[in-house]
Amino acid sequence: MVVEGAGGALVPINETEDMIDLAKALDLPMLVVASTTLGTLHHTLATVQSIRARGVDVAGVLLNGPAHGENARQIRDRGQVRILGRVPELYPVDTVSVQELVAQWRNSPFVDPCTEETPRSLAPRQGLRERDAQCIWHPYTQHQTSPEPLEIQAAHGAILRTSDQTEIVDAVSSWWVCNHGHTHPKIAQAIARQAKELEQVIFAGCTHEPGVQLAQRLLPLLPGQMTKLFYSDNGSTAIEVAIKACVQMARRRGVQQPRVAALEDAYHGDTFGAMAVGARSVFSAPFDPLLFEVDRLPTPAGAWAPNCAEALEGSRIALAALDAWLTEHHKDAACLVVEPLIQGSGGMRMYPRVYLEGLDQLCTKFGVHWIADEVFTGFGRTGGSFACRPVAGRPDLNPAAVCLSKGLTGGFLPLGATAFREEIFRDFLSDDRKETLFHGHSFTGNPLGCAAALAALDLLQDPATTSRLADIESWQRRFLGDLSNRHPVTGARVLGTLAAFELPAAPGGYLASRGQRIARFCRDQGVLVRPLGDTMYVVPPFSMREHQLERVYDTLSDAIEEL
Ligand SMILES: Cc1ncc(COP(=O)(O)O)c(C=O)c1O
Repeated sequence: MVVEGAGGALVPINETEDMIDLAKALDLPMLVVASTTLGTLHHTLATVQSIRARGVDVAGVLLNGPAHGENARQIRDRGQVRILGRVPELYPVDTVSVQELVAQWRNSPFVDPCTEETPRSLAPRQGLRERDAQCIWHPYTQHQTSPEPLEIQAAHGAILRTSDQTEIVDAVSSWWVCNHGHTHPKIAQAIARQAKELEQVIFAGCTHEPGVQLAQRLLPLLPGQMTKLFYSDNGSTAIEVAIKACVQMARRRGVQQPRVAALEDAYHGDTFGAMAVGARSVFSAPFDPLLFEVDRLPTPAGAWAPNCAEALEGSRIALAALDAWLTEHHKDAACLVVEPLIQGSGGMRMYPRVYLEGLDQLCTKFGVHWIADEVFTGFGRTGGSFACRPVAGRPDLNPAAVCLSKGLTGGFLPLGATAFREEIFRDFLSDDRKETLFHGHSFTGNPLGCAAALAALDLLQDPATTSRLADIESWQRRFLGDLSNRHPVTGARVLGTLAAFELPAAPGGYLASRGQRIARFCRDQGVLVRPLGDTMYVVPPFSMREHQLERVYDTLSDAIEEL
């Protein structure tokens, strides 16, 4: 008997012959080993037919995989072939598993695979909202007053599909993370491939190919001269790592109380350190007494187009204040953290590159590290690779560290990374273990996240993406221009693929209810937006089509008219 399992019945064994020829030459029947899962009917029946067509007997089919009575019966009846048994998936695949299986077979009666159960397709998610209400605490949600959550069953490109098959345009890239669109097959495949090889391993004392490859590919693309990548698992932790490294260095220099500076209206995340560098607001209020003190510098950003005269003047004023702070505190300063070009959660407030150039120059002059928080702006969001990318004819920017997350994995998996300049890494080299950067997370360098990030990087570097970014920017300008002509909105502004504006006569901050009512209206019309108070913005996945973006703006226009 020849066991067909060495790649398939038609697999060549030399220049002219295949496995069937081998069976024929030996005058033996063939045993077909077949999977029980999707696609098996075609493959198995075609194999059985080709063996028989060449005059070789088929001894039977041995199934491999999870129970699937229906597939087993179909193979038996359509192929008129005996089903000899089923070998379940072994885990782990080793001799112990095989011994356990054999022992099980010896001790229990034979089970005909044709009589086994057929897995049923996923049951409709009945009562999901009710079950959610019983057991889930959602982020940034006041459960007493919030509308029920949307039941999202699937997503593709820029579209979310609810369990009642309503299509919703995702105009916020699901919290600004799904840059390349939902369920992009290239990223999904990369994760699936990696999951079969290595899903996770402790990253202290171990390394792996996707982690190293990602660092090798990413570092040269980053602004400044980044040479080392420290992995974590989200944007806030990427910030924590950068701040902790700078603070530890300052302490080593002998600074008793290192000073950390950040801009007004900043947002850098929700963990305590990231919250501390963020602006004090209603969100931080409960924790304010526990947040470490941060020197708050005037922001150059506003609800204006990033290169308008007001923005340039704002930058000049903010740079003068920075100069004064550095003059006074450079000796005690650990670092200065900034969101380059746009303060996202602070209200999509923009500022020109000249501020970053001035900041870079001043920090270099005073020897103070600045940290570029590219968590939101990175990976194409501001029109090019990164907000701090080099610009022809302009001075380069040289942050000490760059923080990344969100679009890093194309929004598929949580991953954070903090890139450092070589001299920072070197500062920690010592024979004294106390000088280690004592930071790490269970999922540091998760291989699945790294594999997703590599696939997302391929997509980012695909020339098709470059032209898509340009298309989205031009559509944003056109649709926002039209909207501004129709309604008395203010501060209409576009930066790369993102656009924002202020609702007419908007009072209050983030909690202003007008934005929330507009979000609800849009949601009922099949568009997902998430205003920041009365600041409206559109942050589309790069896969968004022109008609989908037009629908977003038409819906926003209807909402403004209605409310
Ligand atoms: C600029 C910036 N930094 C950091 C963060 C925090 O990222 P995460 O929510 O992944 O912790 C955010 C989140 O919106 C952000 O916009």
